[in-house]
Amino acid sequence: MSINEHPPQDEPKARLHVPVLLDTCIDVMQPKQAESYLDLTAGYGGHAAAFLAKTNAYSNAVLVDRDQMAINELAVFEQKGATLLHTDFVSAAQALREQGRQFDLIFVDLGVSSPQLDRAERGFSFSMDGPLDMRMDQRLEKNAATLVNTAREAELVRIITMYGEERTSVAKRIAKAIIAQRPFSSTKELSDCVLGTHRGSWQRTHPATRTFQALRIAVNDELGQLETLLRCIPDLLTVGGRVGILSFHSLEDRLVKRFFKEHAEAGYEADLDVLTKKPIDGATHDVHNPRSRSAKLRVAVKK
Ligand SMILES: C[S@@+](CC[C@H](N)C(=O)[O-])C[C@H]1O[C@@H](n2cnc3c(N)ncnc32)[C@H](O)[C@@H]1O
Repeated sequence: MSINEHPPQDEPKARLHVPVLLDTCIDVMQPKQAESYLDLTAGYGGHAAAFLAKTNAYSNAVLVDRDQMAINELAVFEQKGATLLHTDFVSAAQALREQGRQFDLIFVDLGVSSPQLDRAERGFSFSMDGPLDMRMDQRLEKNAATLVNTAREAELVRIITMYGEERTSVAKRIAKAIIAQRPFSSTKELSDCVLGTHRGSWQRTHPATRTFQALRIAVNDELGQLETLLRCIPDLLTVGGRVGILSFHSLEDRLVKRFFKEHAEAGYEADLDVLTKKPIDGATHDVHNPRSRSAKLRVAVKK
């Protein structure tokens, strides 16, 4: 059955964000009646609705998101007894760990949601003009404009090469142009600037794609958040509890893969068994959802 044909009843405005690899997540993670559920990137509740339809244990569910817009859409779950936490997932995980909470199911669907990408005013997209923002949590002090308008050239080169996986020579050219043309206040100004540094023609991938990905990762400290979160996960799982993590680019997947490997190969002290020896990829298993193209799902169980 495809989720697009039968969206769960309490999925808030399901079409805002089509959940990735939904049926596969449920098949592999096997949620059962009365199990507790922690969704650390609840977004528009597509995955949460499907998991909670199986557990039917709303009062044992905690849904986290750092985006106010997502939290507003998740209110329907709160009305049924779930706890909503409007914070970043590291703060949420650390607070839950301090309270001694453990969960049978933990789900993490990394990155941005469709509404974050598709709304010009959020400033994530180079294809729509909007303020140069890119904050998932609008309460953060620094946005993308602050970063590009104040960072030193070497810092911009580091961000664009590390997080955008852009070649160093290209990143240097882009950073130089940014320094020469700043200040920037809109996404279009920045994407035009990057486009102006591009040599030759381009077809499918806009030359600003990698720079925008890099800035988004830096503004939201996405990799730092993920690394710290992963260390909290074993403590937050019950014995037999399953964690599923969906990643969307190689930088994220590398961290998840390494973490699972370390925990699965620690000899008799290993606390996780990896259920997905190879990641399940969205391009093969969720062909109708364009957001799934680069998705990779890894699942582990606590021993
Ligand atoms: C891909 S969407 C999740 C979609 C969700 N699974 C669904 O079905 O609607 C990712 C969500 O995670 C949130 N997010 C990303 N990083 C986060 C972090 N470090 N802490 C809390 N929320 C985060 C984003 O704001 C976004 O709403």
